[in-house]
Amino acid sequence: MVMVLDKEKLDQKQLEKVAAAARLLKEGGIVAFPTETVYGLGVDATNTDAVRKVYEIKQRPTDHPLIVHIGHITQLDYWAQEIPEAAWLLARHFWPGPLTLILRRSPHIPDCVTGGQDTVGIRLPAHPVALKLLNMIGPNKAIAAPSANLYGRISPTTAAHVSATLNNKIDMILDGGSCKVGLESTIISFEHGTVFLLRPGGIPVSAIELVLNKPVISHKSKAPVTRVPGALPSHYAPTTPLQLFHLPELIQTANKLAAQNLHTVVITWSEINSSQLSAPNIQHVRMSRDPVHYGQHLYALLHRYDQAPYNYILMETPPELPAWLAISDRLQRASYAHL
Ligand code: TXA
Ligand code: MG
Repeated sequence: MVMVLDKEKLDQKQLEKVAAAARLLKEGGIVAFPTETVYGLGVDATNTDAVRKVYEIKQRPTDHPLIVHIGHITQLDYWAQEIPEAAWLLARHFWPGPLTLILRRSPHIPDCVTGGQDTVGIRLPAHPVALKLLNMIGPNKAIAAPSANLYGRISPTTAAHVSATLNNKIDMILDGGSCKVGLESTIISFEHGTVFLLRPGGIPVSAIELVLNKPVISHKSKAPVTRVPGALPSHYAPTTPLQLFHLPELIQTANKLAAQNLHTVVITWSEINSSQLSAPNIQHVRMSRDPVHYGQHLYALLHRYDQAPYNYILMETPPELPAWLAISDRLQRASYAHL
């Protein structure tokens, strides 16, 4: 069942749909819901059976923890404890928004949410439907939600992306339109006064550093994906092989594959002369040079071309600039398995 919602203002009918979703969550159901980053696959964070079902449906290893979504900043110290001042500062500044804080978990968080770790990821999302849903599930409740995709695949930024793979496996999909940010939240952790970046995302590191007035350390060895023993860095990947190239090599490769009768889609942020990619079995897509705009459309584009009958998705390597960090991270993971 897909419920369509106009995300900007919720009228009575839409509120009823969110209320129905809240009821389902309270009964242990699984509801896909929109956030400003990507769609989440939500369950009551305190219902261990429902949490286990999410892992099963996603085919995700159980030691790969879920983010707990809260509806108000005042709920932070119910779900977490020993919260450093820097975390409060970031929460006050960026919430609601695409920022996840890794904090010491409180006893209210079940083991299965955190994969047995003593920390929990917490986020207050900015989407009006998500906020309404969170406020309707009742006091001392939160929504544990991974992105609403199968493990290792591209995150969904529309309800249609969710229903394409999960429609029959979950109880409801709340449709709140296309996600505004389009990339997952930035994940930050705190240790002995140092602030670490675990996953680049919707909030640029520079904005976080500005608020904290100190550097954020990129802690590669602590990146979320390496917390899973034996996990491949391949993640956020389309099923069509995706490769990254700088411009001259990108054009050469596309033309070479075209000569072998292979169909490729070439995605660039640079302007290129169309005569350089003239074979009929090459489709060229030009994306924005603005990383915010590029990030908004990236997953939708990958979903679209992954479903189309192309042999390869060839992408121009993103600029090596801080504002492109989240995009570079996702594209490197998407292409890893095929290098
Ligand atoms: O934007 C987002 O963050 C979206 C929306 C739905 O909120 N959620 C999302 O969830 O991307 P998921 O499960 O696809 O990715 C969450 C990441 C995982 O890589 C997980 O390992 C990491 O967060 N994570 C969660 N709790 C953690 C913890 N306690 N310590 C380290 N990493 C953690
Ligand atoms: Mg995910």
